[in-house]
Amino acid sequence: MPTRRQFLSVPIALGATALLPGAFATALAQETPALPDLADWDKVRAQFVLDPEWMHFASFFLVSHPAPVRDAVDAWRRALDRNPYLTVEHNAFTEDESRWVPGHVTRAAATYLGGKPTDIALTHNTTESLALVYHGLPLKARDEVLATTHDHYSHLTSIRYAAQRTGATLRQVTLYDDAATATVDSLVERLLRGIGPRTRVVGLTWVHSSTGMRLPIREMAKALKQRHPEVLLVVDGVHGLGAADEDIASTGIDYFCAGCHKWLFAPRGTGLVWANAENWARLRPLIPDFSELDGHLAWLQGRERKGPTTAERMTPGGFQAFEHQWGMLAAFRMHQAMGRGRVAARIRSLNDRLKAQLGENPKVRIHTPRSGDLSAGVIAFEVAGMKPEEVVKHLHDKHIIASTSPYAVSYARLAPSLVNTEDEVDRAARAVATLTG
Ligand SMILES: Cc1ncc(COP(=O)(O)O)c(C=O)c1O
Repeated sequence: MPTRRQFLSVPIALGATALLPGAFATALAQETPALPDLADWDKVRAQFVLDPEWMHFASFFLVSHPAPVRDAVDAWRRALDRNPYLTVEHNAFTEDESRWVPGHVTRAAATYLGGKPTDIALTHNTTESLALVYHGLPLKARDEVLATTHDHYSHLTSIRYAAQRTGATLRQVTLYDDAATATVDSLVERLLRGIGPRTRVVGLTWVHSSTGMRLPIREMAKALKQRHPEVLLVVDGVHGLGAADEDIASTGIDYFCAGCHKWLFAPRGTGLVWANAENWARLRPLIPDFSELDGHLAWLQGRERKGPTTAERMTPGGFQAFEHQWGMLAAFRMHQAMGRGRVAARIRSLNDRLKAQLGENPKVRIHTPRSGDLSAGVIAFEVAGMKPEEVVKHLHDKHIIASTSPYAVSYARLAPSLVNTEDEVDRAARAVATLTG
């Protein structure tokens, strides 16, 4: 079967290998150094060069690259700087599947997410993933996309833009009035109640960066599919991926969109979409890919492309910051080595610990559900008599990085993660306590 490469490549592709065999082998070896010992959390923390003067409780905002990812990015950058042409030819446009680095990345991603490597499109962030899916869906005038009042700007704006182009409509349902008291049943019930006769697509966010709510996505997908098998489910999964222990491919989600540059520790500017072959086939491509050979041939021959849309066809083409895309491999390997379940349990235990301490303070109101079954790594809270930005400013003054949620109703957030210790959690809780006198 002819493969994607040849694409944009000149005849050098065949002969070039002989010119630089050592360089390729060296680059690949450097790019895949043995993983360090990640057996305990101190060793994991030691992979980061975060400023020790600060306690970092906003790692979900944007990743600090851990050592295996830094090394991979550096190695690929060196290879690209030495010889951009041949490094790209040999690793992005090669005919040899075993050398095709994006294929290695999607294989590692599929090992982590479940499903097949061919189910995964590599993107640059959550925002791009959502836009690709919503613009790809064959929405028609009067079709309804049902989203929620808890979704991020990137999600709702993607839907709005797609609706403007197609004549479809956006409606939003509120899944809870108070995240802290919501239950699996109440969330499922509100979702089902929201579905209308014209609803074709449902958009949900797995972990709400507004309240820290982690939706019971498996239960919600199941209930939706039982009642409305024809409705497609799109999920913004960015704050669950790398924080929760879930086999994405078997959740019942149709399109899972996420950046990989937050909890997963992949290089900044990386993301993905997962969908199965049937759901990829529904989409209309938006950005020309540099992956499928047929795209190139169709262009040369002035014809339409053959076959259904695939993840490869939906993968945005154009030259990339290849060192970042290829460095994703190291992040998936690191997570695989730490163990998805172990990582989720660690994040849960640190978050439980912080919630327990904050909860003792009558002047602190925690909006995030107390149960780790309905939360992940983000704790949203209010301090009586203070604005969220004042809380965050005071914590910054104590060298604790907290953040505010960028939503119409904003809360202060602390997000204990693998870069934190129990001691830091206790100090953050004490710092909040000092604010309340
Ligand atoms: C829920 C949610 N979705 C999407 C985004 C945007 O993510 P990205 O920067 O990967 O596009 C964010 C930002 O943190 C977010 O909180």
